[in-house]
Amino acid sequence: MKITVATVKPFAPAAVAIIKETAEDAGYEFALLEKYESQNDLIEAAKNTEALIIRSDKATREVIEAGNRLKIIVRAGAGYDNIDLTAASEKGIIAMNTPGQNSNAVAELALGLMVFTARSKYNGKSGNELKGKKLGIHAYGNVGKLVAKIAQGFGMDVFAFDAFVPKEIIEADGVKALDSADELYSICQYVSLHIPSNEDTKQSIDYELLSKMPENATLVNTARKEVIHEDELLKLMAERDDFKYVSDIAPDKKTEFEEKFANRVFFTPKKMGAQTVEANLNAALASVKQIINFFENGDTTFQVNK
Ligand code: 3PG
Repeated sequence: MKITVATVKPFAPAAVAIIKETAEDAGYEFALLEKYESQNDLIEAAKNTEALIIRSDKATREVIEAGNRLKIIVRAGAGYDNIDLTAASEKGIIAMNTPGQNSNAVAELALGLMVFTARSKYNGKSGNELKGKKLGIHAYGNVGKLVAKIAQGFGMDVFAFDAFVPKEIIEADGVKALDSADELYSICQYVSLHIPSNEDTKQSIDYELLSKMPENATLVNTARKEVIHEDELLKLMAERDDFKYVSDIAPDKKTEFEEKFANRVFFTPKKMGAQTVEANLNAALASVKQIINFFENGDTTFQVNK
């Protein structure tokens, strides 16, 4: 039985080493495919393994259908919008994520992006402080919860909206739970996105919602580019010179955003929210353990295609 790590964006070496060691200690073969150049490489890897560990790599129908020995795919991370779940279910392949394992890294980056933009991208000019400002957390999952905690340390006034998390859970953290996204965006100068990308959320962050944000608004996106309605955000930013957009995921229309609003946008060169040694170690170890636990004990706790 083989466990293959297939990552275009490699884990920290220590994380790869821990997967290899854990897999081999449990009697599994280990294979590594990093920084691969074509999707065909992933398809080939899928043909020759029982288990795949991926990051944002695209486990498309083609990859899944090629996996004749494949039994399980684990997305070492939170968002599993990169796995064709229908294709996996049709082939009887288990798909899992590793929720919470890289959340702290993403949460720290979200606050880092807020400081960076509030301080005029460290350009030497006067900026603003986060203390006392209203922060809206859009979706209160593992990352949203940690963003709230760190933001409270900064002295921010923290609000959240999550359609699926009971208000009492949010309020137990000293965060004000709101009834709607509309309310969140109307109240908060800073909004940090932590929603997944799916059929309901794609392009849902649109002109109508964003135009509710108060003066000197900053939208922080460490979630997914797909949730933003880019044309409508471009329109809003053209109308409002007080609106800033900072994102860990460059938009499809990156050049247009940068050409038009150079001082009001910032995009990381590649998605780096989860790109810390600590997050890599956590997610890598969880992935390999979940695979072994599935093969040895039939444990499907973190299955996302039930
Ligand atoms: C996630 O969904 O866990 C994050 O977006 C991290 O993705 P990455 O592993 O591709 O960096």
